[in-house]
Amino acid sequence: MGPEDLKRVLKLLPDQRQAEEVLVGLETPDDAGVYLLDEENALVHTLDFFTPIVDDPYLFGQIAATNSLSDVYAMGGTPLSAMNIVCFPCSLDMDILAEILRGGADKLREAGVALLGGHTVDDQEPKYGMAVTGKVHPKKILRNRGAQPGDLLVLTKPLGTGVLASAIKADFLTERDATDAIQGMVTLNRKASEAALRAGARAATDVTGFGLLGHLATMLPERGVGCELYLDQVPYYEGTREMAESGMVPGGAYRNRDFMKGRLDVAEGLDELELLLLCDPQTSGGLLLALPEEGLEAFQEAMEPDGFFRVIGKFTADEGARITIR
Ligand code: CO
Ligand code: CO
Repeated sequence: MGPEDLKRVLKLLPDQRQAEEVLVGLETPDDAGVYLLDEENALVHTLDFFTPIVDDPYLFGQIAATNSLSDVYAMGGTPLSAMNIVCFPCSLDMDILAEILRGGADKLREAGVALLGGHTVDDQEPKYGMAVTGKVHPKKILRNRGAQPGDLLVLTKPLGTGVLASAIKADFLTERDATDAIQGMVTLNRKASEAALRAGARAATDVTGFGLLGHLATMLPERGVGCELYLDQVPYYEGTREMAESGMVPGGAYRNRDFMKGRLDVAEGLDELELLLLCDPQTSGGLLLALPEEGLEAFQEAMEPDGFFRVIGKFTADEGARITIR
């Protein structure tokens, strides 16, 4: 769903008087819920599922699992167990479903997460994902908010998966052409999360359906802290710009952009396409972190030898809590 629709629907929920064990619940835009067990332990709960974005069922399973685990990592947590969520047409070849589940299970094994069970529904269009439970130390939760002026904005995967998935769907690209992006989508955010904790990150989220700008906006409070984005430092997967120029910008990017209007301070002459790319909805995107400058070296060390990241901006003191694009 788009951010506007979701906001409207959530408003209709009755006001939940939360138990004091609920450390993170519905009232904030955080990635997962957190429930306190005792002084040292809290549970992290999240779920995610979606329709195939690549044709290869094994790859789809891996991408969906990586994406489902991501919100636990985005809270600074460690995923422990998972349950499959499966919608699949009974008329389709069950070998396809077996491949999807194998992809998911392999990714869980890599992450050291136990698969406990799942639920299947007969559905016209296949969908797959997981409900994931993790743990986090109650004092080490990485929330969306907490950035302070001067903190660096760090992104741990390139962008462009929305554009590239549209191009694959339209047969403009083969999966082989999009290897770069697919490799990114099956990369766990585990290392980035551990590095963030070690480097003293003050806030974190992951970039998914609302795009870079939409998720960056969830890191900003009502007032006091804004962010300056360095446009020329924002990384994209190979082929993204070319495919966007060929018209492969997904509808979600336009919706995300419209939602962000009024919060953006955009440099004059900024190309419309550039803005749409910053709003491209991501699948299994990277973490977006607020990192104190003095933590950068520790972060870099923890991400070596092959962990990708870029410093793409800086948080600023700003009454209007706006995102400035330069
Ligand atoms: Co998230
Ligand atoms: Co999600």
